[in-house]
Amino acid sequence: MKLAVVGGGSTYTPELIDGFARLRDTLPIAELVLVDPAADRLELVGGLARRIFARQGHPGRITTTADLDAGVDGADAVLLQLRVGGQAARLRDETWPLECGCLGQETTGAGGLAKALRTVPVVLDIAERVRRTSPGAWIIDFTNPVGIVTRALLDAGHRAVGLCNVAIGLQRRFAAMLGTEPAELHLDHVGLNHLTWELGVRKGGPDGEDLLPGLLADHADRIAAELRLPREVLDRLGAVPSYYLRYFYAHDEVVRELGAKPSRAAEVAAMERKLLALYADPSLDEKPALLASRGGAFYSEAAVDLASALLGTGAGPGSVQVVNARNRGTLPFLPDDAVVEVQARVDGSGPVPLPAPRLDPLYAGLVGHVAAYEEQALEAALRGGRDRVFRALLAHPLIGQFDRAAGLADRLLAHNKEYLPWA
Ligand code: G6P
Ligand code: MN
Repeated sequence: MKLAVVGGGSTYTPELIDGFARLRDTLPIAELVLVDPAADRLELVGGLARRIFARQGHPGRITTTADLDAGVDGADAVLLQLRVGGQAARLRDETWPLECGCLGQETTGAGGLAKALRTVPVVLDIAERVRRTSPGAWIIDFTNPVGIVTRALLDAGHRAVGLCNVAIGLQRRFAAMLGTEPAELHLDHVGLNHLTWELGVRKGGPDGEDLLPGLLADHADRIAAELRLPREVLDRLGAVPSYYLRYFYAHDEVVRELGAKPSRAAEVAAMERKLLALYADPSLDEKPALLASRGGAFYSEAAVDLASALLGTGAGPGSVQVVNARNRGTLPFLPDDAVVEVQARVDGSGPVPLPAPRLDPLYAGLVGHVAAYEEQALEAALRGGRDRVFRALLAHPLIGQFDRAAGLADRLLAHNKEYLPWA
C-alpha cells in the first residue's frame, strides 16, 4: 500500500509517523511519500521519520519529494495537512479581527474565513492532480477549515473524507476518567467541524449504555477546567461541548484575553523552531515530548483508523468513527449536501453517517447558522469578490453586524492579497 502526505514537511509529521509505526498491523504501509515544497523542512522531517520507522522495525519505505504529481502517483490514499501561508498567515488571521472587536482564531470566525479563501483553491488543485495520477485514491483531509474544505472536495466529485482530532481526543480523555479502553467508548458526537457537542458517551457500541450522566456527575469540574469554561455550562447543557465552543459561549472574554497575550501562531512558530532543531539531531529516533504541546494529539490514530477502514486493512469491515461527511438527512434541518461531523460507519465505499440524536434547538440554531456561513464562505472561496466575502462575514453568528462585516472584509482582503488573485 502506498500513502502520500501532502504537507509532509510539517513539524506535526512525526506524530503521524509514530502512529503509522505503532499501528502497522492495522495499516500495513509499504511506501510512504512525504510531499512538501519546503525542501529544508522536508529533509529534517523525512530523516526523523525514517529513524522512527527503523527504531520500531517498520519495513515500509519513506521517501520525500517536492514534486506533487510524482509523490501522489499510484497512491491508495493521500493525506492533506497543508497550511497555505504557514504560521505567518495564521498570525495575521489571529490578529486583524481583534481590531474590530471580533475573535481572532485560525478556524473560527473571520480568521477561519481567510484561511478558507486561501486554502480551498490550493486543495482543489491538488485533488485534481491526485485524480489524474491516482484515480480511485481516497483523500483524507486534515487541512482546516475541515468542514469547508471537505465540502469543496465532495462538490468537485472527489473521494474525500474530512478528519479532525477533537472527537478522538475527548474519547481518550473520557476513557482515562472512566478507567476504560478508548475503543470501548462511542461518542454521540454531533455538529459541524469545530462546532460539536458530545451528547452521549456509550459503552461497547453506538447503541450501548450512556455513561455521560455519570461522567459529568463525577468529573464535570475537571472537564470544565480543561475546556476553560465555567462548570455551569456543563451543568446546564448536560453535554460536553468541544473547546471550540468557548469561542461562542465566552466570545467577549476570549477577545479580551487574545488582546492581552501573544497569539497562538507566535507560540507555535517558536515551538516549531525548537522542534526542527530537535529533528536535526541524528540520534533522535522517536517523536519528541514537545510535540504533545501542539493541538494535534492523536491525529495519527484517527488517520490510521480512517485509512484502514477506507482501504479495508482494518480489523473488520464497517468500523464506526467520527468523520466529516455529507449530511444526507442526519441533521434533518440541514441540506443533504452539507458536510457534518458525526459518527459514521466507514468501509471501502466511504462513510455513511449513523442516525444522530435529535438536536436540541439550543444546538440546532447555532449549527444551522454556522452551516449557512460555511456555504457562503465556500461561495467566496470558489468565486471570489469582496461582496461574497462580506456576505460570509455578515452570515457568521460571531459577526453579524453590518459595520463589523465591512471592516473585517477590508482587512481580510488587505492581509491576503498575495493568496487571492482576484483581490
Ligand atoms: C486541534 C484541531 C486542529 C488544529 C489544532 C491546532 O488539533 O482539531 O484542527 O489544527 O488543534 O493546534 P496548534 O497546536 O496548531 O494550535
Ligand atoms: Mn480540527
